[in-house]
Amino acid sequence: MRWWQSAVVYQVYIRSFADGSGDGIGDIAGLRDRLGYLTELGVDALWINPWYPSPQADAGYDVADYCGIEPDYGTLQQAQDFLAEAHAAGLRVILDIVPNHTSAAHRWFAAALAGEPGARDRYHFRAGRGDRGQLPPNDWQSVFGGPAWSRIADGSWYLHLFAPAQPDLNWDHPQVRREFEDVLRFWFDRGVDGFRIDVAHGLVKAPGLPDRDTGLGMLDGAAHPAWDQDGVHEIYRGWRAVAREYDPERVFIAEAWVADSGRLARYLRPDELHTAFQFDFLRAPWRAASLREVADDAMAAAATVGAPPTWVLSNHDVTRTVTRYARSQPDHLVGTDWERKRWTREPADHDLGRRRARAGALLQLALPGTAYIYQGEELGLEEIEQLPDELRRDPTFAQSGFTDVGRDGCRIPLPWSGAAAPYGFSPAPVTTWLPQPPHWGSRAVAAQHDDPASVLQLYRAALRLRRTHWRGAGPVRWLDCPPGVLAFRRGELCCWVNTTGREVALPKNATVLLASHSTATETRLPPDTTVWLAAPEISL
Ligand code: NOJ
Repeated sequence: MRWWQSAVVYQVYIRSFADGSGDGIGDIAGLRDRLGYLTELGVDALWINPWYPSPQADAGYDVADYCGIEPDYGTLQQAQDFLAEAHAAGLRVILDIVPNHTSAAHRWFAAALAGEPGARDRYHFRAGRGDRGQLPPNDWQSVFGGPAWSRIADGSWYLHLFAPAQPDLNWDHPQVRREFEDVLRFWFDRGVDGFRIDVAHGLVKAPGLPDRDTGLGMLDGAAHPAWDQDGVHEIYRGWRAVAREYDPERVFIAEAWVADSGRLARYLRPDELHTAFQFDFLRAPWRAASLREVADDAMAAAATVGAPPTWVLSNHDVTRTVTRYARSQPDHLVGTDWERKRWTREPADHDLGRRRARAGALLQLALPGTAYIYQGEELGLEEIEQLPDELRRDPTFAQSGFTDVGRDGCRIPLPWSGAAAPYGFSPAPVTTWLPQPPHWGSRAVAAQHDDPASVLQLYRAALRLRRTHWRGAGPVRWLDCPPGVLAFRRGELCCWVNTTGREVALPKNATVLLASHSTATETRLPPDTTVWLAAPEISL
């Protein structure tokens, strides 16, 4: 089995991980200081959100130079030293590549605005509609809200599926294709082990950029001329060939919000990408039947192309798991409009959410394939929903006309130690780039490190056992169990997940290896709890 087929990957949102320089912004120096924390946690690899020079119109997903390092985060030399240190510590490193759009500050867009011959062809520039060209060229909406087109001084329009400062690239242009293959090689030559591909389903647009007529469509799964076009696969065949120029082969993980797992599997054909995030898992409510359906569907689809399923419960774009599980559980949960505008009015029971999140983590880590942990998940952090409006940074807030508060609440700087801000995030008292809440000290790494009941200790124990017991344990075999419970065997181990509010009986002849809640016994599985059982044979 190759490393990426069963790895646990820890997502480092670098701006909020650890600040080494003392300016209130996370950086490479801070990350290097905490490598020991990550190896002790027991993960196999890191995925680092974009660390390239960027005006930060969308927290680094507006890249001005794909082969440099954002000065707030450090230097290219520091990045290279970090890569060497991470490798020496046994960690693989995956970077984030953003091929759908550049920053408006990228040299190509500057050339396009300056009217350099041919420069606009690398983007989607069009004349407007209406008698004076005053209307956008089509009806597409930006994912962040408002039209997906902006007009420049000479009257022409350019396409941006996200913020106006993120112009979409034209992937029909040969220079665009060549440039990105060179960017891949630039980082692969420096030892980077792979890339997470941002908006992997967005690069190719339907010819003629036809109207879509309804909605914005990135997350709702409906067909859209900007998303999941067949032409995108040719690009990834080229990227796979680049990855194969290296030994060991470099790997890719796709961020692709597509209609169903069948469409997702197309990205994972043997000559395309290696893995793709399974977002249905994080969208599923805390209900056994839904979780089982999603798991079955994902495993079956991945198996059709020989790829490992890739489980994700949380990332920098969605409401943190603790908070998603802290309210009533509608059929579909995701960090979009619906969730933030309406559902967030319900009071959140974070203790319940945390209890379910602990149980969800043990489910996630028992499934075959790869698993991603978003920084702070291992501390049981909840979404910080109350932030002063003037401090919000996510462009979603302004672009939605201040109706959708956006994603800042899952991007708060991590608490490391102490009882007052910045909770060890920065080496000295300083205002962090997003404010930390007053209770953050109780969730800090130092507060949890030696507490056997902490979320952190649960993750450490789970990752240790996963390495020795689950890895390579074979496929899931579902077991009979009461309604609201999910139970499966893989090899010598079983995983029982109780998503109900009542206790259920565990099978006889089983030994509990790990439980997400301390009240589990050899015979009883409490509400909202998962146990891992050593169970050579099961009798109910
Ligand atoms: C997906 C990224 O995860 C998100 O943070 C970003 O805003 C969009 N892509 C646009 O790059």
